Amino acid sequence: MIRCLCTILYFFCILNLTGVSLDFQVKEKMHYNNAQEVKEVVSEHVSGEMSEYGDVPKKIALTFDDGPNVACTGRLLDGLKKRNVRATFFVIGKNAKKNPKLTKRIYEEGHMIGNHTYTHIDMSKVSEGKAGKELKKTSRTVHAITGEYPQYMRPPYGVCSQKLEESLDMILVRWTIDPLDWKTENTNEIVKKVVTKAEENDIILLHDCYKSSVDAALKIIDILQKKGYEFVTVDELFLD
Ligand code: NI
Repeated sequence: MIRCLCTILYFFCILNLTGVSLDFQVKEKMHYNNAQEVKEVVSEHVSGEMSEYGDVPKKIALTFDDGPNVACTGRLLDGLKKRNVRATFFVIGKNAKKNPKLTKRIYEEGHMIGNHTYTHIDMSKVSEGKAGKELKKTSRTVHAITGEYPQYMRPPYGVCSQKLEESLDMILVRWTIDPLDWKTENTNEIVKKVVTKAEENDIILLHDCYKSSVDAALKIIDILQKKGYEFVTVDELFLD
């Protein structure tokens, strides 16, 4: 229900901004769980038209999974603040509980907090009941710290059954660029993979539990800001 409403809202915004008339069938096919589709349709129908209005920044979203992490997240937040960038953090519930100050800081500095389950479970390998409990426990934890329930979730490994997805009252978000930062732990490699692929409306997947990923994220921002990109939270990417 929320997803449908947001999709409709989203297209209203696009139509208002651009006057582009979108084919109804295209609208019907849009789902937030398919980040690639969102990117393609939005880019095709909007960015071309937007450029006629002058220097409209190209939007792109950085997302950080698996935190908050006591060794890395604080430094990342410092770097984001310095660059005036807002990002999205899909937190693991038990990490949020363990690091309430960092969780609160993420929220207070204007970033978006999403739900990444309580113990990083593979949602395709547990019952729907168990998966639902993991999500609820995480949302309650985030709410207790920030006063706000997450509206967006990202399933660990990007895996979630269609049935479970449809039963959720959250918006599922995957990604369009995955530099496998957890695997390489090599800053320059991560930067190269992202900046060579980056396009308008991309959702970049990184993890704020590796030093190399934090270093890469800040370099990615410096490079892409110079190319005219504006870093926004996932909800801004979808709704602005
Ligand atoms: Ni994860």
